Amino acid sequence: MHTVHLPDTTLAVHTPGSGLPVLLLHGFPFDHAMWAGQDPLADDVRLIVPDQRGFGRSPGPPPASIAQLADDAVALLDAVHVAEPAVICGLSMGGYVAEQVAARYPHRVRALILVDTKLEADTPEARVARAKLAATVTRVGQEAVAEAMIPNLLARSDAGRGRPGRAAVEDYLRRTIHATPVATITAALGALAARPDMVDPMRVVTVPTLLVVGAEDMITPPDCMERAERVFPRPRLLIMPHCGHMAPLEDPATFNAAVREFLREVAGPGAGLPEDDRPREPVR
Ligand code: MLT
Repeated sequence: MHTVHLPDTTLAVHTPGSGLPVLLLHGFPFDHAMWAGQDPLADDVRLIVPDQRGFGRSPGPPPASIAQLADDAVALLDAVHVAEPAVICGLSMGGYVAEQVAARYPHRVRALILVDTKLEADTPEARVARAKLAATVTRVGQEAVAEAMIPNLLARSDAGRGRPGRAAVEDYLRRTIHATPVATITAALGALAARPDMVDPMRVVTVPTLLVVGAEDMITPPDCMERAERVFPRPRLLIMPHCGHMAPLEDPATFNAAVREFLREVAGPGAGLPEDDRPREPVR
């Protein structure tokens, strides 16, 4: 990890690999380490994996809006000298940020990968639930978020629960929620609640778009990405069996194989991305 200075904050960022730039944006309330299973992708591309402001080792101030996190993402690309359009990949909250990057800075986007996320704004009920959770976190601390989120983050089927590495993933989620400052959690809940509907802005995104969702995602279920598939001009959809809301952590091999295949198509034959003969789930 190293630190980069943006106009009004600093971000901790992990930047392994070289070549095609691929920005990985974590979900709420996690950090760059949720993408540890994607490190093998750095054999072929340049990964740029930040802790977004206020999360992980990035000090903040806490996020004021999803649009601000999108501004940070583009300022980060500038700070690490990425001038060419980058592949922007985000999970859940990171997906909302990626959508905002695509809407506000289309010339910076080579392709979009949206994972376990959605395009629609919060419903009024969801906004009330976020405000209640923020109030509870302020009163009792991060455990309120762990209790509210952890049971819904990972696949519940026997196949999902029995996956090797499941205990380590659960441990990471719990530890990271507890390590995230209360001020970041409450600010991010406000930013999530206030985010705009992105359905119309995404209709004009002309770059290739890979949509990925766990078949057992209970927070942004597969129908969110099925609706998104009808919005983007150039979509592909992968529904990952036996995965929940954290599909890249739950089954990194399947996720990475699909991303490699997508990036090979995005980069074209001259880009030096090797053929991948590992087994993978069909992408439709
Ligand atoms: C996330 O995983 O980033 C959050 O669950 C997003 C959300 O609550 O909408």
